[in-house]
Amino acid sequence: MLKKEMLYEGKAKKVFRTEDEKKYIIEYKDDATAFNGVKKGKIVGKGIINNRVSALLFKLLEERGIPTHFIELLSDREMLVKHVEIIPLEVIIRNVAAGSLAKRLGLEEGAVMKLPVLEFCYKKDELGDPMINEYHIKAIDLATDEQVKKVKEYAMKINDIMVEFFSERNIKLIDFKIEFGLHDGEVILADEISPDTCRLWDAQTDKKLDKDRFRRDLGDVESAYEEVLKRLQ
Ligand code: TMP
Repeated sequence: MLKKEMLYEGKAKKVFRTEDEKKYIIEYKDDATAFNGVKKGKIVGKGIINNRVSALLFKLLEERGIPTHFIELLSDREMLVKHVEIIPLEVIIRNVAAGSLAKRLGLEEGAVMKLPVLEFCYKKDELGDPMINEYHIKAIDLATDEQVKKVKEYAMKINDIMVEFFSERNIKLIDFKIEFGLHDGEVILADEISPDTCRLWDAQTDKKLDKDRFRRDLGDVESAYEEVLKRLQ
């Protein structure tokens, strides 16, 4: 598939058009940012790992009935995906309190939720991705009721599938962020699922194996990403 001009460069990925207008190429970078781009760095090899981890999880989810944008891996850092129009929502699922939820509700990091918590953020960097609810989504036309229903249904199912999958690999899925898009009018899972977008703790020691090692300067960032890929393969 011939790569044409770059359409978009994000903080961790580049998106390219191809000769087929319904297919795009995503290239995963080593660049890492946190706190809405305030903290900047590089995690050497991250692009390669996130490309592989995302491909592996998208394949798993497809097999289990979740439509995704993933078509195939093209190289170390590139995957071919279906073109989508991104729904401007960050969908967060939390099984255990951590990060902004622990802070907001005054909970201990590690406190297990009685049920998975679903949150929506409005995907808008200039505003720092503020948290919103279904009334806001409807009031400012971010998605239709039907699309929101699908998004919630898929997100919960994705959580069930991934909690089990990670747990079998000795990893606790604490929380994660996903994004959906529209392809031929249908809601499908898009973006990436990787240690950049999930909190992953070792099941025995609770060692963080995700981007919190970069956000919080915990060290061993590269080796944590490598460990996740190793356990998933
Ligand atoms: P939070 O606790 O900082 O709100 O993060 C919740 C989850 O969402 C966590 O797994 C990290 C992920 N996340 C992203 O993927 N992108 C972001 O921009 C933020 C803030 C969080």
